[in-house]
Amino acid sequence: MCGIVGYTGAERAQGILIEGLTRLEYRGYDSAGVAIQEGGALEVVCRKGKVGELSRTLEDFDLKGTCGIGHTRWATHGKPSEANAHPHTSCAGDIAIVHNGIIENFAELRDELMARGHSFASDTDTEVVAHLVEEAYDGDLRAAVADATARLVGAYGLAVVCDREPGTIIVTRKDSPIVVGRGAEGSYVASDMIAMIDATRDVVVLADGQTARLTAEGIEYFDEAGEPIEPTVTHVDWDIDMAEKGGHPDFMLKEIYEQPRVIRDTLAGRLVSGALAIDELDMTPEELDLVDRVYVIACGTSYHAGLIAKNLIEAWARIPCEVEVASEFRYRNPIITPTTLVVAVSQSGETADTLAAIRDARVKGAKVFGITNVVGSPVARESDGVIYTKANKEIAVASTKSFLGQVASLTLLALLLAQAKGGLTTAQIRLLFSELADTAEQVEAILEDTAAIDEAALACKDATSALFIGRGMGAAISYEGALKLKEISYLHAEAYAAGEMKHGPIALIDEGFPVIAIATKSPVYDKIVSNLQESKARGAMIVAVATEGDEDIRKHADHVIYIPKVRDAFSAITASVPLQLFARAVAVARGCDVDQPRNLAKSVTVE
Ligand code: F6R
Repeated sequence: MCGIVGYTGAERAQGILIEGLTRLEYRGYDSAGVAIQEGGALEVVCRKGKVGELSRTLEDFDLKGTCGIGHTRWATHGKPSEANAHPHTSCAGDIAIVHNGIIENFAELRDELMARGHSFASDTDTEVVAHLVEEAYDGDLRAAVADATARLVGAYGLAVVCDREPGTIIVTRKDSPIVVGRGAEGSYVASDMIAMIDATRDVVVLADGQTARLTAEGIEYFDEAGEPIEPTVTHVDWDIDMAEKGGHPDFMLKEIYEQPRVIRDTLAGRLVSGALAIDELDMTPEELDLVDRVYVIACGTSYHAGLIAKNLIEAWARIPCEVEVASEFRYRNPIITPTTLVVAVSQSGETADTLAAIRDARVKGAKVFGITNVVGSPVARESDGVIYTKANKEIAVASTKSFLGQVASLTLLALLLAQAKGGLTTAQIRLLFSELADTAEQVEAILEDTAAIDEAALACKDATSALFIGRGMGAAISYEGALKLKEISYLHAEAYAAGEMKHGPIALIDEGFPVIAIATKSPVYDKIVSNLQESKARGAMIVAVATEGDEDIRKHADHVIYIPKVRDAFSAITASVPLQLFARAVAVARGCDVDQPRNLAKSVTVE
């Protein structure tokens, strides 16, 4: 979401912080800032835009201080702006903090602090922490940070400096990464070790609740109770290239493994007092209740996220929902009225067809919501409201983590519409939200053991064509599975709603032809099993993605990839992950460049 860095030591901090922030830009880049202890006071410099903008500004400041913290931001609360850029400071300006995460109870803390006379300079959730530390400070910054964090609900990785404790940085975390390291020239902290890899290969990955005090001389560690502890030091042999990929051989795999975090970040702060809250959409429950038709418009993988959303919006909110590829939508004359809601989904936020479709829909009077991964992108700017998927920068051309972010965001939107329409009770929404949150752990479980996926991929690597089938939610999942396979492995793949098999595609099947089936336990499970039997009878080699504990499926499939049991509504999240891994494993086995497949680009800014 955001990247944080800190340095205290013998060298000037300015250059070290900028270098670290540049390495962390993949985590966000809508604004950046530093706070450096300079001659007994804190010098805070922030700029809207990328780290390069901040770096150019700092050339004029030429700060000499040797202790400081820095931040590169990915907006969550508060738009990208200089005022909302970190570091944030206390009223007296003597305490500065950088934060990665979301403080869920910030609104109530802010009211409380304002009532006690604090004034706020930003719209961020983060700023409350600076004021809480200010109130708690009594000569011991570590103790003040502990008091402040005891009040926080949510996720945080924090680095804090105070001009009354020169050369000291306090860091702590909960559900947000913090890595600390000691190099020859000083002590370092960052959200990701990539920011300090030139200085040290021995790092401490802070655990939830732990705190570290960094000084030029060394680093002390404390547990949740404030007792000193001996940390576990991890030595990493990675070179820069590997470190950028988090130790994975390619960005695609790194991004696939980031997905549990994407789900958690997407859901953080969305259930407030038992009700769904998506304030960025800027529509009252009454306005949402008037919506009588939804169009999801998108391209490629984002379109597939829309197909999944259709199932949820219609099931829960009972609003007719159409999903269209943007390049078709823009050239026909869709029925749009002032009560039509258009949801434009785009990872890059700059796909030409999606943008044209947004403009067209707005001219025709529709309200347009954007769902995008890029803050301030054209889709964000041109929509009436926007939900940012919390994927962070996606580097591999084939979308994986941004797809899961889209599905999670669209699921929230479906719940919001159901809440406004009364399609679900408050208790049902709470239960669904909690099951949705559980998918983060379920995806983690899938990522822990990929042996069955790799084995199925090896069995398919020499095929010339493959068929993906599913029903209901499984059909939508299979479209995305086929796209992933063809775009990175160049193996021709098609997806069909399994009920269509007898109407044509079954003719493709002969001895050894790969059929990849989404055969999870769902209301149409028996039907998909029949499709498997029909395919098997004609010689297909069947790979089934099935629900853990379903031993029966082995009778019908050559390879079974088990995934945890989830409600059918959430099966797109869990079942898509093995298909991403399957596509990647096939591509690797075929010697393809999985991160940069031929003929494709990450942003499609022309028609
Ligand atoms: C496939 C993929 C593409 C994009 C499509 C739309 O892995 O990434 O199909 O989904 O080009 O791009 P965005 O979402 O940026 O509008």
